[in-house]
Amino acid sequence: MLTTKDAIEKRRSIRKFKPDPIPDEYITALLDAARLAPSGSNAQPWRFKIVKDRETKLKLAKAAYNQSFIAEAPVVFVCCADIKGYLNGTVSGIQDLGKIGAIEDRIVKIILKRVEKIKTMHIEELSPRIALNVAIAIEHIVLRALDFGLGSCWVRLIDEQMVRDIFGWDENIHVVALLPIGYPAESPPQRKRLKLEEILID
Ligand SMILES: Cc1cc2nc3c(=O)[nH]c(=O)nc-3n(C[C@H](O)[C@H](O)[C@H](O)COP(=O)(O)O)c2cc1C
Repeated sequence: MLTTKDAIEKRRSIRKFKPDPIPDEYITALLDAARLAPSGSNAQPWRFKIVKDRETKLKLAKAAYNQSFIAEAPVVFVCCADIKGYLNGTVSGIQDLGKIGAIEDRIVKIILKRVEKIKTMHIEELSPRIALNVAIAIEHIVLRALDFGLGSCWVRLIDEQMVRDIFGWDENIHVVALLPIGYPAESPPQRKRLKLEEILID
């Protein structure tokens, strides 16, 4: 088993996959890694559609501006945020945090009031703050995949409406990213990164 450090250092975006299928128990383990991610107010807005059939994968590749490698992965996770689920999850999550004393009652009330305001926000305004939580869950999947020798690649360059149309979803589902996953058929070198001193602000 890899250490977290190994996983962080060894991970690469993989865009070439072997055709070998991924065992269902690995897919379940990846979903479980997503499920355990932290989220604001423990709202857990992430939802996933698991796509294995070739026809749908081709449609997803098209919706991702013809990034054809997506269709070559044995599995594609369509990583989404459930807007209504987020709002309901925030309310119950914040109440739970109040009950265990993690947050003062006064703050719970303030946040619940804020949720009422959030509910009136337009979806475009709401989506980025929800997507933040889904991104954490996605990266849990990406890192956990390495335990099974699997590689993946975040794909955010997508036409969201085209993805929604493939599945007949309405605006309640915000598509955050596609995550093609499979056994790597390439081992790319580490990509360029900023130096430590470059990421510190004076
Ligand atoms: C939010 C996000 C969106 C990305 N979107 C795409 C994408 O649409 N297509 C793609 O090929 N790679 C995409 N990538 C992968 C990046 O290009 C990659 O992470 C970066 O070049 C660094 O390489 P590495 O992941 O191998 O370290 C995305 C990565 C992130 C985190």
